[in-house]
Amino acid sequence: MATSPPLRMIAASILLATVASSYGESSNGQMHMVTVPSTTPVPATTSQTEPLAFDEPTVDKFFSTVQSQLHCGYPMFGIPSLAPLKLSYTLKTSFDLLQLKKINIVASNFTVHGLNNFTWNAAKARFTRTSASVIFTFPNVTAFAQTTLNGANGTSYVEMRNITVLLNAQYEEKDDLLYITELGGSIALEDAKVRIASLFPKSVKLTKIWNRAIGKSMPILVELFNGGKLKIEYLNRLLSGAKFYAMNTINNGLSTYSLNFDRLAEAMVKFSNGTSDSLQCDPAAVLADGFAGWLRTGSH
Ligand SMILES: *[C@@H]1O[C@H](CO)[C@@H](O)[C@H](O)[C@H]1NC(C)=O
Ligand SMILES: *[C@@H]1O[C@H](CO)[C@@H](O)[C@H](O)[C@H]1NC(C)=O
Ligand SMILES: *[C@@H]1O[C@H](CO)[C@@H](O)[C@H](O)[C@H]1NC(C)=O
Ligand SMILES: *[C@@H]1O[C@H](CO)[C@@H](O)[C@H](O)[C@H]1NC(C)=O
Ligand SMILES: *[C@@H]1O[C@H](CO)[C@@H](O)[C@H](O)[C@H]1NC(C)=O
Ligand SMILES: *[C@@H]1O[C@H](CO)[C@@H](O)[C@H](O)[C@H]1NC(C)=O
Repeated sequence: MATSPPLRMIAASILLATVASSYGESSNGQMHMVTVPSTTPVPATTSQTEPLAFDEPTVDKFFSTVQSQLHCGYPMFGIPSLAPLKLSYTLKTSFDLLQLKKINIVASNFTVHGLNNFTWNAAKARFTRTSASVIFTFPNVTAFAQTTLNGANGTSYVEMRNITVLLNAQYEEKDDLLYITELGGSIALEDAKVRIASLFPKSVKLTKIWNRAIGKSMPILVELFNGGKLKIEYLNRLLSGAKFYAMNTINNGLSTYSLNFDRLAEAMVKFSNGTSDSLQCDPAAVLADGFAGWLRTGSH
């Protein structure tokens, strides 16, 4: 069944756009540009904006199939493994710790765990023929990185609890094809914990002091972040780049598989039913280091 692959791809790229992009988006997959045709504005009819009834267990099944697919991603569409997600991004920053000491941080080799562990809020989900809005909660997303802090090397991690992602998508049909025209959303963080392990190998005391200091500043950072006051220029750039990338990937898939709204919805149900296809991710072939293995059956 040729309609299943784009579904996983779409779901994976939506997740990629909303969550992973906060850490930078690393895919170097080849990108084929899709141009969304301009449409003559049609006044939205009631049937287009009316909420559609959905079957909760089917959507549940859809998302759990997505979760099990995330460790493979879709390399052939430029979507990397998202469980864990590995980023080659390097972050360089510096700040004054309690106005006492200048701290220079270089963080690289990010590995993000927990993107395959999420729930969706059925009561607040809304689907129409022109838009979708879903809230996801990720109970534990943990990002590990190799860090150098004032010259000392170590491993750090940020454990983020209960990240809430509100995702909005706008789409429209043109010439019997569906196009995503806008992808938006917001991210809220309930709690975060930062630990820098073995950063000062020779001083347990220094490590403790450092961890306590950032531990104290975290609730403030979480508040600033949630209130939208913590606006980081590079984060914004990454987010808008990832949004463009995700929209393009989705539109690419939709046109490759000639999907309009109805055919997409039908494919979604089939996908939830676990219809086998030629792009099944083979869990047995996924090596311990996160390398994704692929099982190719049938023709594609
Ligand atoms: C980052 O990962 C690359 C490739 O796995 C490795 O060669 C490099 O040493 C790593 N860098 C650090 C700082 O750990
Ligand atoms: C998801 O994360 C939570 C919090 O870390 C954990 O309790 C739960 O077992 C995880 N679920 C899965 C399916 O991994
Ligand atoms: C969160 O996830 C990380 C990485 O998978 C794990 O080490 C940690 O124990 C988890 N925390 C909780 C509270 O489940
Ligand atoms: C820290 O790591 C960097 C890059 O991996 C390396 O060039 C440097 O020599 C290391 N420093 C120490 C003190 O080990
Ligand atoms: C995350 O949300 C769950 C469910 O609402 C709650 O039980 C848990 O205490 C929350 N965890 C944190 C760290 O806020
Ligand atoms: C999905 O599975 C259910 C139960 O197995 C079946 O009734 C339904 O016809 C299937 N739908 C599709 C589109 O395959």
